[in-house]
Amino acid sequence: MNQIQIIQLPKIIDKRGNLSFFEYPNQLPFNIARTYWLYDVPGGEVRGGHAYKEQQEFIIALSGSFDVVLHDGQNEHVFHLNRSYYGLYIPKKVWRLIQNFSTNSLALIVSDQKYNANDYIRNFEEFKSLVNG
Ligand code: TYD
Repeated sequence: MNQIQIIQLPKIIDKRGNLSFFEYPNQLPFNIARTYWLYDVPGGEVRGGHAYKEQQEFIIALSGSFDVVLHDGQNEHVFHLNRSYYGLYIPKKVWRLIQNFSTNSLALIVSDQKYNANDYIRNFEEFKSLVNG
């Protein structure tokens, strides 16, 4: 699997409170090497604005909502994440930014790689040349 896609996660409904999860390889197409989260994002702020050469990510709105704007070099795709049981899979070589964070939103992001500043492509024109040849 190497397509941008929304993955619906299991939802164990319980009157004591619901529970969802993801694990490799059943819901997630990669083994997790790193987990980070975005929180306390001031209104109007934008995170991201880059692509990764090799890294894949999976993003979940654990709380609140936000928009993930993706560009594959040809087309833009906008995903509004607002449920903790939907995750967005982003393969490598996809431009991505996250915006329109609601108050107290919490974005959980897991990646198949450790943090590596050299894996970032921060220039959109450079990104387009890379993916379009
Ligand atoms: P960055 O990925 O550039 O954030 P954004 O693209 O949302 O603006 O990360 C911001 C800073 O955090 C940068 O200095 C690197 C550091 N960072 C880590 O040290 N480890 C990580 O796993 C991540 C994602 C970032």
